[in-house]
Amino acid sequence: MQRSVKIRGLGLAMFGVVGAFAVQSGLAADKPSKAEMEVDYRQSLYTVIGGNFGPLGAMAGGKVPFDAAEARLRAERVAFLAPMLKEAFPADSNGVAHTAAKPEIWTDTAGFNQALQLLIDRSAALAAATNGGDAAKIKAAIGETGKACKGCHDKYRVKE
Ligand code: HEC
Repeated sequence: MQRSVKIRGLGLAMFGVVGAFAVQSGLAADKPSKAEMEVDYRQSLYTVIGGNFGPLGAMAGGKVPFDAAEARLRAERVAFLAPMLKEAFPADSNGVAHTAAKPEIWTDTAGFNQALQLLIDRSAALAAATNGGDAAKIKAAIGETGKACKGCHDKYRVKE
């Protein structure tokens, strides 16, 4: 506690010098805050996860033909990226203007962590299934992973 206060104090002192210069030169308006960058990082992670999960969903739903190699590549990417979400919800990114993350993420931490762990586990199981090459099993595992996405969105993401 003591320590973080001191560090914040130092940050403010530095802002006094650097910030004054930035305001004067018109840079302050363009530079996103630390919290805004944290939201950008989180949304970028989800965008890449979504970009890779989309083709899997299309295969499971029969919208595109099933392709075992493509499924494996996409599933491995999602399984690799999902655990990175653990670092993507720092407390100061709560309530930033352009975030769709609900405040419940930081009040119901246990519930949120459980929803995130479900994605991590199911995407790992999906990646493992793609090594077997059994289309029916892979499609079922895609469905289970998709439910983990939806379950969390329903509870912890602001609806568009
Ligand atoms: C543990 C909760 C959780 C899980 C699981 C989850 N999401 Fe999300 N997702 C969120 C939250 C919260 C946001 C809003 C992030 C923000 O705006 O800060 C989000 C945002 C997104 C976005 C929008 C990103 C942007 O640019 O604003 C996409 C796309 C997305 N998720 C796809 C997925 C897919 C696909 C899955 C499953 C493979 C998934 N999510 C699983 C919580 C989750």
